[in-house]
Order: sequence, then structure tokens, then C-alpha cells
Amino acid sequence: MKDLIDLDRYPLDRENSGAWSALVEKSRAELARDGMFNLEGFLRPGVAEKAVAEIRPIMASRSHEHRRWHNIYFKPDLPGLAADHPALQKVETINHTVCADQFPDSLILAVYEYEPLIRFLAATMDKPRLYAMEDPLARANVMSYRQGEALNWHFDRSEFTTTLLLQAAEQGGEFEYRTDLRSDDDPNYDGVARLLAGHDEQARIMKVRPGTLNVFRGKNTAHRVTTVRGRRDRMIAVFSYYERPGVTFSPEERLGFYGRSR
Ligand SMILES: [Fe+2]
Repeated sequence: MKDLIDLDRYPLDRENSGAWSALVEKSRAELARDGMFNLEGFLRPGVAEKAVAEIRPIMASRSHEHRRWHNIYFKPDLPGLAADHPALQKVETINHTVCADQFPDSLILAVYEYEPLIRFLAATMDKPRLYAMEDPLARANVMSYRQGEALNWHFDRSEFTTTLLLQAAEQGGEFEYRTDLRSDDDPNYDGVARLLAGHDEQARIMKVRPGTLNVFRGKNTAHRVTTVRGRRDRMIAVFSYYERPGVTFSPEERLGFYGRSR
């Protein structure tokens, strides 16, 4: 694993050492302050490129094209909100996905399953333990965004999202977010409408380099990936972990996300 992850800079393998605890503390503080943390250079130089080389042929021939109109909530309506409220405005998401079962024995899956990484992530998220998902498709995915494709505005349904950027687009394909646009007590529908209309000055773009591990708290922070321009796809691995072992998607969920139930 030391050839893939920069364990000199990020000592995941020296659990409970001073350096490990300092990294956990720093990550936790950033998560509390910014709603995210980034471990830049998490992958050693050249490793993201190798991962892309492994995934690219599968992406080219066997990826699932995901294309849909949705609102920021991924729900058709919300109680107490008129159907024509601008907070419910629809936006389009298009990307291509490959699933864990399509890249067995890959570098990405080795990183996903690396136990010290899972224990480190649990510590940063203040969880007693996390477990890799058992779903053969959903546990780790690689998404690619080609020219003209985007992940549009949404709030996440899960508390945390763990991603590893493998390749950046030439232009666009940037992560844009608006911190705490709503809270558990206040849905801020008018603020959501302002953001969707492009009038929220607190929206920020985050520049990410390939090889960066990102942990993001996206339940109340609206976010999107802007439309990709140019010939190079944006390619990102998404890792799913849960607080209990044995979690899988239902066949219906797999069909919805991946176009196949198994
Ligand atoms: Fe998200």
C-alpha cells in the first residue's frame, strides 16, 4: 500500500501514533469548520494516472450512462411547498458510472478496502467503526463526466461522502458548493431558489488536484460539479462506507443507479 498511498505524509498505517492522532485532529477540525477536508497528494505521484489507465477501457465500453432531470432534493415534492416554487426547479445531471464488480483486482478497490483507511475515516467522522459496503456494485464506483456532462445541484442523502479525484477536466468539471445553505431546522427555500437562479454570492469553487482524498459533509451544503469542457473527462472514485456491516442496495436501487439489478 505504501506504493499507492503516501503513507509518509499521511501515516494511516501508524494508528494511534502522535502523527496519526495529529492528522485525525486536523481533519476533524477542518470537517467541523469547513464541512470537508482534503488530503492532497494522498495517492503517490503517477498513481492516479495508473488508476485511470485501468478504468478507462471499462469506462469506454461498459459504463452506465446516467442521465436525468431532478431537483436539488431528489424528491418530486416537499410538504408545504407549492409545486411551482423555484426551489423545486429541475436541473439535469449526466455522467457515466462503472461499478466495483467491473474493476476487481484494481488499484482503486485496493485503496477502498484498505483497513487502516477505513479506521482513519471512522476516527475523523467520530464513528466507533465504519465498514466497507457489501454491495458488489455500489461499494466503490468511478464516475466520469465527459464534455457537456455535469453533476447538478443537490443535497446529499448520506451524511458523509468520500471521494478520490483521479483526473481533472481541461475546463469546467469543478466542484462548487454553498456551505450550510439550509439547516436541520430551516429549509431556507428562498435561499435555495436564489442559488439555483445563480444569485448566491457565497457559492464557492474548490480546485482539486488528482490524487486528493476528499471527505465532504453534503446534507445541508448544496453542491454540484460544473459542466465539463474539453476532451479530457473528469474522473472520480466514490467510496461508500457504513456504520454497520453487510449493507447492500436493493435490486431496485441498483437498477435505478446502474441500469442493472446485479
Ligand atoms: Fe453529492
